[in-house]
Amino acid sequence: MTLTQVAGLGDMRRSVASGRAWQALIGHHRKIADLSLSELFDEDPKRGERLCAEAAGFYLDYSKNRITDETLTLLTDLARSQGLSERIAAMFRGDTINTTENRAALHVALRAPVGTHIELDGRDVVAEVHDMLARMADFSEGVRTARLRGHAGAPLRNVINIGIGGSDLGPEMAYEALRHYSQRDMRFRFVSNVDATAFVEATRDLQASETLFIVCSKTFKTQETLENAQAARAWCVGQLGDEAAVASHFAAVSSNVPGAIEFGIAQDRVFGLWDWVGGRYSMDSAIGLSLMLAIGPAQFEEMLSGFRAMDEHFQNAPLPANLPVLMGLLAVWYADFFGAQTHAVLPYDQYLVHLPAYLQQLTMESNGKRVTQEGLEVDYATAPIIWGEVGTNGQHSFYQLLHQGTTLIPCDFIGFGQGLNPLGRHHDILMANLIAQTEALAFGKTEAELRAEGSPAALVPHRCLPGNRPSSTLLAQRLTPHTLGALVALYEHSVFTQGVIWNIDSFDQWGVETGKVLAQRTLPELESKPMPELHHDSSTNTLIRRYRALRDGAV
Ligand code: F6P
Repeated sequence: MTLTQVAGLGDMRRSVASGRAWQALIGHHRKIADLSLSELFDEDPKRGERLCAEAAGFYLDYSKNRITDETLTLLTDLARSQGLSERIAAMFRGDTINTTENRAALHVALRAPVGTHIELDGRDVVAEVHDMLARMADFSEGVRTARLRGHAGAPLRNVINIGIGGSDLGPEMAYEALRHYSQRDMRFRFVSNVDATAFVEATRDLQASETLFIVCSKTFKTQETLENAQAARAWCVGQLGDEAAVASHFAAVSSNVPGAIEFGIAQDRVFGLWDWVGGRYSMDSAIGLSLMLAIGPAQFEEMLSGFRAMDEHFQNAPLPANLPVLMGLLAVWYADFFGAQTHAVLPYDQYLVHLPAYLQQLTMESNGKRVTQEGLEVDYATAPIIWGEVGTNGQHSFYQLLHQGTTLIPCDFIGFGQGLNPLGRHHDILMANLIAQTEALAFGKTEAELRAEGSPAALVPHRCLPGNRPSSTLLAQRLTPHTLGALVALYEHSVFTQGVIWNIDSFDQWGVETGKVLAQRTLPELESKPMPELHHDSSTNTLIRRYRALRDGAV
């Protein structure tokens, strides 16, 4: 079945940019591009109360975006012309929407409630998910309560997750986000990079007798992860003096169960993964085992309920009131009509320190594509570069450019009504900064204001902030497992919305393969003695020679 048949759409071989809805947006952009946010707020004093939406515990203020009511109508027309509602239904049904890999992208099944019926290849997907959650819960409780112990009988107090990409960024981001709720007599660390420093620093102050490694790899073929897993095994066996120790100090999460067993991990400690879960969409699957060990099964379930609440909203809310749809359409609006090349995510919560890195993979690996589903080169921009930092740290480094630089950078601000660690005035100060930044970006500081304040004339141009810099603000009461789940699902579905508009496959990642293959070819050229004949370009050949010389102390 082709995508067009799946979604019941028209001819998707025609570029979305040549369609009526897109062309209408080009005309509309010309009309409103010079309108300022100050003018828009002056025209409609209730704009800040009107342009907002709520779902799953989140309040979204999108009034400080460079849009009018007509923009929203035209953007939702674009979404309709791309069959967004049909595509959402297709994803939730388990249709083969990842066409280049010929599989479903069914991460929403990871949080579907018991009794939901989703059948794939004759199997009850939701029942399998809940069986896996029960196994994870049993294992996690066993370790947390010290029913399951190390080889020499010591409780397992250290957990080291070994994985990379989606097998690392999600678990690490979520662990840090929910650290407040974690079992505090346990330590959690994450080793991803194949740089030995990562492994050595993560283990240097630990006893193997108290350490559990979770090797996370969907494929169980990723070179970095396997190398780190081998190092972990050698470290563990070296300290404990017994190969048999591997059975009690290792678990694995993988869709390649035979690969994990072959590595030496006991079968009952291999937690499976389905091919319909993409790595960057997997933090709520068994890939989140380290998180469940940290916060326990009940709070993991709370997190799933947050995902679920946002899923239900995404499925059912009308497009103009749908948070992920609104955020996705705004991303398209800035990337394609204003030419914004980057997008900043600015969480005002220390626990969300890894959220920007997590969203980089989610967004850029999903939508950093240059051809349509049909393989035709796009004639419009796709995913912007995502970056960010927790507030207020960013304010003292790159916000200067946000306010006065020459590029337009739309921002997402994320904040909470209550901090998790009340301390003096900290939280009000933090949130005063968040709110003030959205105001300063939108309305700036005019020359007239500066002159009225008595600023020296020569400094006026330097101190002037042009404003009109768009932002959206997400607020929730507290950072809880539930709100984290809803927040991640919000971004997952915003990314999906963007991918549908751009008519790209958001669930493959072919672009990363060539680098992996070349590294496999380069490694023997670094290791073998004598140096083999090199057949790369002159730069690559010289770099290989220089590296060998530096390594061998020959320069
Ligand atoms: O190289 C990119 C990638 O395939 C990501 O999509 C994935 O999250 C990561 O590598 C890790 O893959 P695996 O979980 O199979 O080790």
